Amino acid sequence: MKNTIVVGAQWGDEGKGKLVDVLAEQSDLVVRFNGGGNAGHTVMHAGETYKFHYMPSGMLHNKLCILGTGVVINPKDLLEEIDSFTSSGHTPRLKISARAHVIFPHHQLIDAKEGGKIGTTGRGIGPAYSQKASRINLRILDIIADDAQSRIKDALRDVKDILIYEEIFTEDEYQKYCNSVSVEYAAYGKKFKPFITDTEDLVRIAGKVEETVLFEGAQGTLLDLNYGTYPFVTSSSTLAAAAFVGGGAIPGVPIRILGITKAYTTRVGEGPFPTELSGDAAINLREAGHEYGATTGRPRRVGHLDLFALRYAIRISGIQELAMTKIDTLALVDGIKVCTAYKIAGKEIDYFPADAPTLAQVEPVYTDVPAIAELTKAEWETLKGKSKDDLPESISSYIKFIEDFVEIPITILSHGPERNETIVF
Ligand code: IMP
Repeated sequence: MKNTIVVGAQWGDEGKGKLVDVLAEQSDLVVRFNGGGNAGHTVMHAGETYKFHYMPSGMLHNKLCILGTGVVINPKDLLEEIDSFTSSGHTPRLKISARAHVIFPHHQLIDAKEGGKIGTTGRGIGPAYSQKASRINLRILDIIADDAQSRIKDALRDVKDILIYEEIFTEDEYQKYCNSVSVEYAAYGKKFKPFITDTEDLVRIAGKVEETVLFEGAQGTLLDLNYGTYPFVTSSSTLAAAAFVGGGAIPGVPIRILGITKAYTTRVGEGPFPTELSGDAAINLREAGHEYGATTGRPRRVGHLDLFALRYAIRISGIQELAMTKIDTLALVDGIKVCTAYKIAGKEIDYFPADAPTLAQVEPVYTDVPAIAELTKAEWETLKGKSKDDLPESISSYIKFIEDFVEIPITILSHGPERNETIVF
């Protein structure tokens, strides 16, 4: 069986956690390859709700789960997540890349100061990745080293000027911070030791023994640092290609690239959102879909399905098939439309604008969509194992319209948060 890369095809929160949980059942390894505690997965199973920020959703299937080299890790938060999972009666099978970078409290303090204009999650993601790129950050292998405390103090010397200049700390506070954080993080390092390994090698060996690997991307394609709606993006690459760099996927090994899209669109934080709804229409859709951020609890911005943006995301990430989530939510609202083109100054454009102010000004061109049928759980149950043509006409024609526009098939339909509320075509 092929390996699979799962990526968000919008601005994140598409329901990747649920889909990874569903697909993990047939996988041997689940590998997260980007982002950090900015991601939030909610997985519901057997009446229990699990919230993960770091651990791949494959945890619930007792699969070997990996946090790859491309991930940035706040050790305190990850240890709390591991503890809470363990105390709910599970044993995490987790391995963490020795090369993954560490998020320190000063990254979060910088993020709190500077992240407002982007509307970041405040988890220190941008500052951690930028200090990684500047080659002044530490990796997990540093905090598990015997001389972790002195490595941490040395690294903090490199960022001292930034922290004082940015008025994050006074000289006095900086000294106290160095002393306390070096002790605290070296202690985390000790707890982390059993989890640390060369995770890329685990992925390589899995390929040799023909095990199936599921790569889990965080955030969404339109939040990609290079191709997203810059500067209103996250600080890592969210494309399928990042699974190779950050997760150890091996070029040449057959791979299936699955993009996840909601039946409509949402976005958290600042930045252009051409199909955004306002007023009662926004409130209705937000409440129908419980659209509040899993990490920050912020109300999500909501809007019509933007097929023009979705097609761009599919093209740049190389997405081969789609899973569509929350079709059940769309059945609860009126006045559904999909955006099929953008206009600037009254003229249709044939490209997705790279410039955020330009994207903010585009005028979406809409096609009206007939109301989506509302089905009971029992009615959905009867559709399991059936084809798309057996779905109610309003749903099958919605799917067909999307497939024709984006030129790839929708192979999975999710109609509720539970694992079994999923139809695979
Ligand atoms: P950061 O990743 O915390 O730096 O935030 C940068 C932008 O990405 C902000 O607009 C966030 O709201 C958004 N973002 C980051 N992670 C997620 C996610 O998991 N889902 C949705 N939006 C996210």
